[in-house]
Amino acid sequence: MRQAGRYLPEYRELKAKSSFLEMVKTPALAMEVTLQPLRRFPGLDAAILFSDILVIPEALGQPYAFRDTGGIEMQYALETRAQVENLAPADAIPDRLSYVAETLALLRRELDGQRALLGFGGSPWTLATYMVEGGSSDDFERIKLLFYTDRALFDALLEKLTAALIAYFRMQIAAGADAIQIFDSWGGIVAGADYEAASLRWIREIVAALPAGFPMILYAKGTGSHLIDQTFTGARVLSVDWTVDLRAARACVPKSIALQGNLDPLLMQTTPAIVAREARRIMESVRGENGHIFNLGHGVTPRAKIECMESLVDTVTHWQ
Ligand code: CP3
Repeated sequence: MRQAGRYLPEYRELKAKSSFLEMVKTPALAMEVTLQPLRRFPGLDAAILFSDILVIPEALGQPYAFRDTGGIEMQYALETRAQVENLAPADAIPDRLSYVAETLALLRRELDGQRALLGFGGSPWTLATYMVEGGSSDDFERIKLLFYTDRALFDALLEKLTAALIAYFRMQIAAGADAIQIFDSWGGIVAGADYEAASLRWIREIVAALPAGFPMILYAKGTGSHLIDQTFTGARVLSVDWTVDLRAARACVPKSIALQGNLDPLLMQTTPAIVAREARRIMESVRGENGHIFNLGHGVTPRAKIECMESLVDTVTHWQ
């Protein structure tokens, strides 16, 4: 999940000098922001590339910005076949996103094998929601109407995104990512019976196109009821949000697949003692089981407290 961001004073300091996208696109700055949480919390065992899922739409020709009131604003909302056809082809991706490869290569050298390096990207469905809605959305009306009323156009868009993500992830693997996390942040807003057609089949296609056995992590918020289906994507790790009962999930997911996540990120706004209690509760619920990667059930929020993060890392690294 996101571990960099506004809750860190050192991030706010850099952000006062450069915009978010400048930081993302300048490899030395992106490396610095990636490393900030690791310096502050030395117990963290993985670095997650500082970037954004929306660099893919941008590279395809649909730029974005942050609204002053919070949320994302795409430069336009995608709605016609001509607009889908006008998106750049997948083979333009490695060149347009070469700054991501450069950042990963810098990080790989800097981490020197001491910590895992995670790359990431959005799922085709989650990216399509931003592209068709024209930004962050409350009701997801446009993307759902497209899915229900013009499946051919929907599929054409998702095919383009899938091809772009395959090229993007191949580039990240070549640049030194140890594992890649796919964020299906909006997988949970799809009608249950449509989750396969709207999201899961495209994720499966991506995983199948990458080197066999490369560790892919799938995070799909609000999709606890699809956990079994997700085990067939080829992902080696399923990252679950806080609404999932971890013990029940562990009991039904094959042992060959690790689970990750589960702590409610809001807890980082409480107290160190409450964080320690809740982190222990999660670990106790799967005591004796292998294959759990401790993580939040979503990204660290801007109002998270440093002392809560410290308590979390301390509790998890000292648990026995
Ligand atoms: O540790 C890390 O920083 C990892 C890098 C990372 C970011 N975004 C940086 C970021 C990762 C893995 C993401 C993923 C991402 N980006 C997702 C999927 C995960 C999720 O949160 O569900 C999504 C949906 C996005 C798109 C996006 N980027 C949103 C919705 C926002 C928040 C906009 C708002 O209203 O503030 C961002 C901004 C963003 N991406 C920040 C960071 C650190 C915050 C920027 C800031 O506040 O300065």
